Amino acid sequence: MKILGIESSCDETAAAVVENGRKILSNSVYTQISRHRPFGGVVPEIASRCHTEVISQIVRDALDQAGVSLSDISAVAVTAAPGLIGSLLVGVNFAKGLCLASGIPLVAVHHTRGHIAANYLSNPSLEPPFLCLVVSGGHTDLIAVEDYTVLRPLGATRDDAAGETFDKTARAMGLPYPGGVALDRIAEEGNPDSFSFPKPSVENAPLDFSFSGLKTAVINQIHHFEQLGTEIPVADISASLRRSVVEDLIAHISLAAEETGYKKIAIAGGVSANALLRRELPAFCEKNGFAFFMPELSLCGDNGAMIAAQGFFEFSAGNISDMRLNASPSADLEKPF
Ligand code: KG4
Ligand code: ZN
Repeated sequence: MKILGIESSCDETAAAVVENGRKILSNSVYTQISRHRPFGGVVPEIASRCHTEVISQIVRDALDQAGVSLSDISAVAVTAAPGLIGSLLVGVNFAKGLCLASGIPLVAVHHTRGHIAANYLSNPSLEPPFLCLVVSGGHTDLIAVEDYTVLRPLGATRDDAAGETFDKTARAMGLPYPGGVALDRIAEEGNPDSFSFPKPSVENAPLDFSFSGLKTAVINQIHHFEQLGTEIPVADISASLRRSVVEDLIAHISLAAEETGYKKIAIAGGVSANALLRRELPAFCEKNGFAFFMPELSLCGDNGAMIAAQGFFEFSAGNISDMRLNASPSADLEKPF
């Protein structure tokens, strides 16, 4: 069964064709990074206009590269929440138009569920149940994946997401957007012992995250160097911050695994591309007897293949939408639509 997946929740316009939730037949991604870089972050108005300009071509490319036509497609899966509302609406309305004209069933996908499904594409043997940490620009979530469409949130950030913490501190240090990528790269040259930043924690909610205190401490440190008029030690600050975040993420995974008894651990989302996380977490899992899974680098960021993959499982579970489907900036992970 072939599913066409469409993703436009933030600054990537993406479409893909995936077979049976596991095999990528095509994966076409247009990233708007260069359009937003002059502003140091995503400008929602520009993002939605840009999605509108390119979405037809991106979907056409996905079908052509897969060597299929619409008549070969069993369902159109689209990210309907969460994300930037103006961006989501472009993908949702495009998918609705496609389904209305062709009679193909429409499937709404929760963006976070899509990120998790990237793991099914990169790890053919992975099946639920497992524990997944979803770390992106907007989310830091610990999730019990009980089945393909049965997900239970265990913990989430109370304030900033991990990616947002990287992006905002990177911006304060003058690194280019998207900051998380640049910070990760320069951190490789820094000394993680240079700065001791506060350990994030949430009282009485050990599975929740809080990164705003850490972010503020790092930004204060950057301002301190600016006030002194001395050069900001960008690599050392980046390395120290990156280690604090990664240690915190691993500590949360460790606790969640202990509490739930899951033996399989996965990561997903843009920050799962982080080089230190990709080194440290497999080592932790190996040492503690957990099986570890992560998406290949090209599937960590937003893409249509992950939406098509999750779309397959939603469709198989009978989760089909009609023409009343609307986009939403937020949605319940357990019962999104
Ligand atoms: O999943 P994603 O593409 O979009 C959202 O759903 O938010 O994640 C984007 C986030 C950004 O905050 C970006 O800076 C971060 O992922 N990111 C990274 C790395 N690559 C992307 N953060 C740390 N290290 C990386 N290598
Ligand atoms: Zn995302």
